[in-house]
Amino acid sequence: MHFKTIAALFAAAASASPVRRSTCTEDTGNTNFGPFGIMALRSASPIHFAQAGAAQNGLYLNLPEQNATCTGDGPSPPGAIFTLVDGKLYLYAEPEPYQQIFVDRSGMGQGILGYITGDQGTPRYAELEGWELDANDNLSFKGAGLIACPNSLDGAWKIWASVGINKPAGQEGCLGFSPRAIELTEPKSCEYTQYGV
Ligand SMILES: *[C@@H]1O[C@H](CO)[C@@H](O)[C@H](O)[C@H]1NC(C)=O
Ligand SMILES: *[C@@H]1O[C@H](CO)[C@@H](O)[C@H](O)[C@H]1NC(C)=O
Repeated sequence: MHFKTIAALFAAAASASPVRRSTCTEDTGNTNFGPFGIMALRSASPIHFAQAGAAQNGLYLNLPEQNATCTGDGPSPPGAIFTLVDGKLYLYAEPEPYQQIFVDRSGMGQGILGYITGDQGTPRYAELEGWELDANDNLSFKGAGLIACPNSLDGAWKIWASVGINKPAGQEGCLGFSPRAIELTEPKSCEYTQYGV
């Protein structure tokens, strides 16, 4: 399928609801946007057009089921819904509080990416702020792209921030991808699962 078709499918669940926006110029990335889903672009790979999902404190591609708890009628969305506020990336929920994405690019963290719920603490070297979208709605963290490593939770690919190593925590077969934000105008409010809960 072509990108436009997929994007249309993504947006099919869409109509009107409040959307955060700011203008994106040539020089500065957009640090306010959403709610949106993330679609991976990495041609000729199993993660091309894969949707990002959130479960057990991590982000994944090709995750079969998120098992998130969502409000409203109808089925739960297959992918995670994000919102970008002042360079901080959250899992969308209404009413707030949001669950928040962190990145640990330290030698220990190796680019591990996860989310916290409520007032849960972050790992020692975790960073929260520095997310932005470029003019193509490609998401990055302080200039770093994202990679995904196969054979993770339920056969999904686990998402990491790229810190310039190909095998974070010894994982084999990781691939870089472009995370494309796809705006959703009728987002579901969800709480995503945590370890051991
Ligand atoms: C979702 O629930 C199913 C059924 O209990 C389980 O097999 C699966 O591993 C769960 N997935 C995640 C990501 O927690
Ligand atoms: C997306 O951003 C990352 C990080 O800046 C970059 O490596 C990648 O080439 C970008 N992809 C596209 C399609 O612009």
